[in-house]
Amino acid sequence: MTSHILTETKEQILTITINRLEKKNALTRAMYAALAEAINQANDDPGVRVLLITGSGDSFTSGNDIMDFLQQPPTDETTPVSHFLQAIATAQKCLVAAVNGLAIGVGTTMLLHCDLVYAAASARLQLPFVNLGVVPEAGSSYLLPRLMGHQRAAELLMLGEPFSAAKGQEVGIINEVVADEALLPHAWGVAQKLAAKPPAALRLTKALLRENGRFTLEAMQREGAHFRDRLQSPEAIEAFTAFMERRPPDFSQFS
Ligand code: COA
Repeated sequence: MTSHILTETKEQILTITINRLEKKNALTRAMYAALAEAINQANDDPGVRVLLITGSGDSFTSGNDIMDFLQQPPTDETTPVSHFLQAIATAQKCLVAAVNGLAIGVGTTMLLHCDLVYAAASARLQLPFVNLGVVPEAGSSYLLPRLMGHQRAAELLMLGEPFSAAKGQEVGIINEVVADEALLPHAWGVAQKLAAKPPAALRLTKALLRENGRFTLEAMQREGAHFRDRLQSPEAIEAFTAFMERRPPDFSQFS
């Protein structure tokens, strides 16, 4: 397991910490693979009843590593990012998220697959896919409009601007916003409550919520195919190159 993903099980709660401080916890292929492995292993581990996911420092995660997008973009469903998205979308145990800071791109869309989401008051979320020349992923083009309605989803996805934890709560992505220093104790307390519940009833409740929400992996896979195509597009290459060169992107030449 890469040191950029830390795992620790205590009181039947598996805490997964995204830990790549120097890059605002941007996710590399190795990190996606480690996250997928941790989530999948928990499915079959009777010693784990709840998963708690958080980030180190001032970021939850700044999303996919942009250098990885440029240098080794995913080309099919067998890549670590797909394994991670499938793992989180099919996880059998309860997932609690403690959003401690920046949650960009997949940092926000992964929350749609968590059961209970808590955020620090200073956390900032963002869905910058269009700004990067790509499209929504992780089933977010399906899940967001169902959660908050078309117009609010369109605002977040089309403008792609950062938004506050309070707005995240208002639109239904976040259960509760708490003071920064209270975040982990609060999320831990909730995880402890879930860990004390009858485990089979909890697992079945999670499965029923998912099934009756009618979210399917096919919806995510259709999106994923567009996403992978877009990663190779001139628009996306311009956006990623501009980020690496620390300049604003220029989309004026595209039709
Ligand atoms: N991929 C790769 N590197 C990233 C990154 C990402 N998603 N997010 C941050 N980093 C790196 C920066 O390149 C920088 O590296 P350097 O110190 O080697 O130059 C370091 O992390 C710190 O980031 P910096 O931009 O200097 O910090 P900031 O506080 O000014 O801004 C962010 C932080 C996260 C707002 C900004 O880095 C950002 O917008 N990142 C891209 C987010 C994104 O678009 N993610 C993809 C979603 S699909």
